[in-house]
Formats: sequence, structure tokens, C-alpha cells
Amino acid sequence: MAKHTVTLIPGDGIGPEITTAMRRIVDATGVEIEWEVVDAGEGVVEQFGTPLPDHVIEAVRRNKVAIKGPITTPVGTGFRSVNVALRKALDLYVNLRPAFSIEGTGARYKDVDIVIVRENTEDLYAGIEFEEGSADVAELIDWVAAKGAGTIRPDSGISLKPISVTGSARIVRWAFEYALANGRSKVTAVHKANILKYSDGLFLRVAREIAAEYQGRVEFEDRIVDATCMGLVLRPEDFDVMVLPNLYGDIVSDLAAGLVGGLGIAPGANIGADCAVFEPVHGSAPKYTGRDMANPTAEVLTAALMLQHLGERDAGDRVLAAVKAVLGEGATVTYDIKRTNTGSTDGAVGTQAYADAIIARL
Ligand code: NAI
Repeated sequence: MAKHTVTLIPGDGIGPEITTAMRRIVDATGVEIEWEVVDAGEGVVEQFGTPLPDHVIEAVRRNKVAIKGPITTPVGTGFRSVNVALRKALDLYVNLRPAFSIEGTGARYKDVDIVIVRENTEDLYAGIEFEEGSADVAELIDWVAAKGAGTIRPDSGISLKPISVTGSARIVRWAFEYALANGRSKVTAVHKANILKYSDGLFLRVAREIAAEYQGRVEFEDRIVDATCMGLVLRPEDFDVMVLPNLYGDIVSDLAAGLVGGLGIAPGANIGADCAVFEPVHGSAPKYTGRDMANPTAEVLTAALMLQHLGERDAGDRVLAAVKAVLGEGATVTYDIKRTNTGSTDGAVGTQAYADAIIARL
């Protein structure tokens, strides 16, 4: 029996190609993984009546670890993002997004090494919204006025921003535990508590309480989100582990990805108390489907994170080192990296040839 069983959801668009490259590389490390492949997305709707069949969720629950390719969310059809649905179904409350410099990616910054821990379940993304013109909005506006809490224009749409003690405590604790387990020295909590006293203020209060438990082991600071964005651009080396509520986490993690070369190389994971789903940050890049052109780096770095999570730290480190070697050399890289580095795609290689180059350096 293989040492680990991992659910593999190839996804669609470029997903099958980049997950094939990823799987070849992971298998070449020698770590024994049995891949249980299950499909989700538009392609399974006809057969199962839903883009996220129960057996897919069950497979992740059973194996506890999954890795996926991107899945297209069709515009204007009935179904919501499969990715979001999976996170909700499995209560994957942590969105982990490391951003670190790799030479040869054309990144603007050289010494970035930040780990972003984004809360994944509440805040403005809780999905509690009231449409402009609806009876519900009118009722809510009247209720707020009756409480003397403020005046809302009648032609408003309203989205709620719930931030709980439970949600804040578990994400901040996770960030501190991650810092300890990975030899990181500082956690920065990001908020707008000066304005949003009862939501972000609560997040900050809870973060301070949890931080006190780690005093002497992990340093703690807090920063206002706007100043954080400026600080990241001016002095990214000041940041180590960052913990943020959902919306700021979404925005700031893209900013951090931009510092180190963009979404094409940004790995990610969604982690809960029981299961973890690893996935790159980018989408399904439909125009490159089936052309053996897409850059699998983000998917491969995502697999390196997964190996770490599985306790296969050495294999994860070897994958990371091999990716760095191939990108640093710059000869055997996909079109996007070639174009960034030379201004032309001449000499670029395909998805699988790039994977071969990584395998050769493991
Ligand atoms: P996208 O990330 O697919 O593409 C943005 C740009 O980056 C495009 O120019 C694309 O060609 C390029 N690109 C992305 N990944 C690349 C790669 N590995 N190699 C080379 N070039 C790459 O974002 P977009 O276009 O907004 O979304 C496309 C679809 O993906 C949508 O249906 C969206 O809902 C879905 N999506 C799925 C995600 C997931 O499964 N977690 C995450 C983000 C988007």
C-alpha cells in the first residue's frame, strides 16, 4: 500500500495538463502516493446534475488531503464556484498563500519571503447580501434607523461583514502555530480597527489575546491594512507571517504575489481542522487548454506545500530547489516566463518539457 492516498481533482482548462506535470514531478521524488482521481466542474454536470458531486467531497473527507487544478466558473449559468463550494462544504477556514522570490521570474523584488494566512469563511465574503430595491433592504434600513445607528440611503445595496471571536481565534492561532512549526519569527495581524471597531476591532482584540500566549516565542505586531499595502511595496522584507480577515487577505495576497512575479507562480492551500485542499491561485486559463503551453509552476509549488503538509518535508524541499534551479537557469521555461525575461517567446518549451527539466534536477 502506498504511504499516502491523495485525492486529485484535475479540473478543466489547463488543469489536466498542469496537474499531469505536477503528478509526474511528485512521483519522481520517490514519495509513495496513491492518487485517487475524481472530476468536478462543468464536465460532470450532465452525469451527476451538479458540478460538485457528493462523491468528490467524500473522497476529500476520506483521504484528508487533496490537490486540484483550476476549475472554470461559467459566467451567467446557474452554478456558483466549485472552489468556493468545496471550501464551504469542508470548512476549510485557512487560505494559505506563501509569496517568495524566485530568481528568473522577472519579479520586481528579490528578497521577499512572506506567508499570508487568510481567513476563508466569514467577513464580507460570508455571502449575506441584500439587493438594492428589495423589501429586505427597506426593512433593514428602517431597523437601522429605528436603532438610531445611522441613516442608509434608500437606493443602497447592503453586504454584511460578520467577524466572530471563534473565526478570528482559530485563524490567528493557526498562523502562530504555522510560524512555530516553520521557524518563522513574526506574525503581523492586519485590520482596519480604527474605523471598523466592532468587526476588525474584535479581530484585533482576539489577535492580541492569542499573541500573548506565544509571547517570547513568536513576535507579534499589528498594522492597518492601508499602511500595510504601502509597507509591502516599500519594504516587503519587513513582513514574515501575516494573518488577515477574508477581504484584506484576498487583496493583500494578490499584492504579495505581484511582488514576486504574479499569479503564474503563486501556490496556495485551503486548510481545515480535518482536511486540506491544495490548489494554485490562478484560474483555468481557457485559451491555453490542450496546447501544452501553460506554466505548471504554481501547481508544482502547490504540490511542494502539500508534501510539507504530508510530513514529506525533504521531498517538498527538493521540488522547490529543482523549480528554482530550472527557473534560475532560464533556458527550459514556458512561454510566459521566457517572454517576461527576454521580451520574446522564442526558445520557450512546453508544459511537459518544463516538467522534464524539473525532474532532471530533483
Ligand atoms: P486565469 O488565472 O485563468 O487567467 C489570468 C491570465 O493569466 C490569463 O491571461 C491566463 O492565460 C494567464 N494564466 C493563468 N494561469 C496561467 C498559467 N499557469 N500559465 C500561463 N498563463 C496563465 O484567470 P481568469 O481568466 O480570470 O479565470 C479563468 C477561469 O478560471 C474562470 O472561470 C475563473 O472562475 C476560474 N478560476 C478558478 C480558480 C480555481 O479553480 N481555484 C481560481 C481563479 C479563477
